[in-house]
Amino acid sequence: MIILGLESSCDDCSASVVEETSTGPVLRSLVRESQDAIHGPFGGVVPELAAREHLLQVRSVIAGALAEAGVGLQDLDRIAVTRGPGLVGSLLATFSASKAVAWRHGIPWVGVHHLLGHLNAARFSAPDLAFPALVLLVSGGHTHLYLALDWTSLHLLQKTRDDAAGEAFDKTARMLNLGYPGGPLVDACARAAARAADPFTPPKFRDGKASWSFSGLKTGVKLRVERNPRLAEAGATDANVQGLCRSLQEAISAWLLKPIPDLAQEHGACSLIISGGVACNSRLRAEAATMAARQDLRLALPEPRLCTDNGAMIAAAGALLAADSEPWSQNADADLKLGA
Ligand code: KG4
Ligand code: ZN
Repeated sequence: MIILGLESSCDDCSASVVEETSTGPVLRSLVRESQDAIHGPFGGVVPELAAREHLLQVRSVIAGALAEAGVGLQDLDRIAVTRGPGLVGSLLATFSASKAVAWRHGIPWVGVHHLLGHLNAARFSAPDLAFPALVLLVSGGHTHLYLALDWTSLHLLQKTRDDAAGEAFDKTARMLNLGYPGGPLVDACARAAARAADPFTPPKFRDGKASWSFSGLKTGVKLRVERNPRLAEAGATDANVQGLCRSLQEAISAWLLKPIPDLAQEHGACSLIISGGVACNSRLRAEAATMAARQDLRLALPEPRLCTDNGAMIAAAGALLAADSEPWSQNADADLKLGA
């Protein structure tokens, strides 16, 4: 089965051709247009600008993915597109385009939940993964831990009470004037650090409920910058900036992984999947590998270009779902719930 996967839930416009074979999905092409230059000056995604840019990008992104894979629309067995959650204006660009192409060419169509996409990004390198699996989805909008019994369902175990982990990276980069998006820049700075700054104190929850919190990190960085305003101007080559990034990255990795061993035991999980943009983080990847080996968990970490938002993960998830029999009345849903 040859699937065209489309994704535009936030600020990346992406299309990919994936071939679903008897041994799992094979990536035939992947095209992604970044909008970093547009949103960079604002320090975050401006929804209206993102939506307009997607409209300009969607045709060439689809054409590029088909050309790179050497296929035409007539070769497609299915079109899969992100239905939500996300920014509604952004979602609508590929959503509407996908329905128009599917209708015009009579191609079966399926709408996909964005998080099922992130889960299925792991299928490219680990199609034979054993379940139950713990699934850590960490991005600019999500910091959620799920239990998965297969590749098409996610049951929430715990999530952040406030900011997503990606937000902590992005806001820190902003306070340190490192640029946008912050995650990769903080990661590079942290890797260059000779030593870490003072560690960040983990949050304590009075109600004892299992969860994460990352908004305190934002305040922590803000206070350190207020105490030492030089940090905001010194740039990526400064040893103190690098040390601060390293402490932040160490805190986020350690906090994210902390609940995994107990929950793996409680749910009899044999695998751990980590996906979403923050799964590109070098420290998190290294720590996860060490922890998984110690806990006897098989670790599935998609390659970085499949961790961030992309059309290939949507195609891989769409391959496992039943095509919608009546796509034309379907709409994108900014708050789409899992299982809806
Ligand atoms: O999954 P994604 O592309 O989009 C969302 O659905 O949010 O994730 C984007 C997030 C951003 O917050 C970005 O800063 C973060 O992933 N990110 C990273 C790294 N690369 C991207 N965070 C930490 N380290 C990285 N290397
Ligand atoms: Zn995402």
